[in-house]
Amino acid sequence: MNLVDIYFKMKKDVQYIEDELEKAIDTPVRELYLSSTHLLKAGGKRIRPVFVLLGGKWGNYDVKKLKHVAVPLELIHMASLVHDDVIDDADKRRGKDTVRMKWDNKVAMYAGDYIFARALAIASQLPIPQLHQILSNAIVEVCKGEIQQVKDLNNWDQNFRTYLRRIKRKTALLIAISCQLGAVASGASADMIRKMYWYGYNVGMAFQITDDILDFTGTEKQLGKPAGSDLVHGNITLPALYSAHHGKARAQFQEWIAKNTFWDHTDEAVRMVREDEGIAFSQRLAERYIARAHAILADLPNNQAKTSLTGIANYIIDRKF
Ligand code: IPE
Ligand code: IPE
Ligand code: MG
Ligand code: MG
Repeated sequence: MNLVDIYFKMKKDVQYIEDELEKAIDTPVRELYLSSTHLLKAGGKRIRPVFVLLGGKWGNYDVKKLKHVAVPLELIHMASLVHDDVIDDADKRRGKDTVRMKWDNKVAMYAGDYIFARALAIASQLPIPQLHQILSNAIVEVCKGEIQQVKDLNNWDQNFRTYLRRIKRKTALLIAISCQLGAVASGASADMIRKMYWYGYNVGMAFQITDDILDFTGTEKQLGKPAGSDLVHGNITLPALYSAHHGKARAQFQEWIAKNTFWDHTDEAVRMVREDEGIAFSQRLAERYIARAHAILADLPNNQAKTSLTGIANYIIDRKF
């Protein structure tokens, strides 16, 4: 089952969330409206709201209620992207100019803040304290992950653990709580809530690892941004870390690092990583996370939601964009 089929089965509710997303950031303040809807209109997979809806299938499914979680999670994701593109000096996102490129960093700062605030306003309409604690904690963790990334920029003194902790914070947690909060909002059992969290965590780790692989192996057309951007911008991800410490490129990388000239050779380094064993290593690690996600699903009763969650887990390791 591919992603299109999975979404098709939930078409009505996905469209409902889409309409609500647009309403959520509507404002008469023109500059704020244009900058914050810019990213929304550029598309995106909407995978976090889909996870919320699927998490909501394990209790009393009510899309009117779930929207108070699904919309905020996509908005929090979007706000973090607007800010992330400032941090990463990114020019392109979802095939379009980033907010910081089309306007500037100052507008991007407030567009991001505005989208965050709208997310909280919509979530606050659900009177479940646990939900708000989980949501605000996740935003704190994303901030920690992104700040960590700024600190780790151009820094070769980091290891796999540093990398894994960073991607847990900046990506996996938001996906984990999308699944978890769908279950919370639908009144699912504590056991189901926990399982959804761990399914989402494993899928989220694999998701970011795949994203980091694709940054090397994808084309600009597939990615909606230039390939190799991460390393060129000093963001050292798993495939590059592998090359520097274990790969065929190791001697050359270590020489450049020792001479303090690595950052003069990024184009060549990107080519070397692309042909190195770190790509397959990263892919295997992503597959291990996906295997854990499947193991969690194996315990669950068979239904459409389980089929869809299985399909998304498989899509994540095979995805090309
Ligand atoms: C991009 O997320 C940032 C990461 C956490 C890897 P997505 O790949 O979900 O981005 P969109 O929403 O589809 O653009
Ligand atoms: C994803 O980080 C952004 C957040 C999770 C906040 P990346 O910098 O790796 O994602 P892309 O590659 O810009 O989408
Ligand atoms: Mg980033
Ligand atoms: Mg980025």
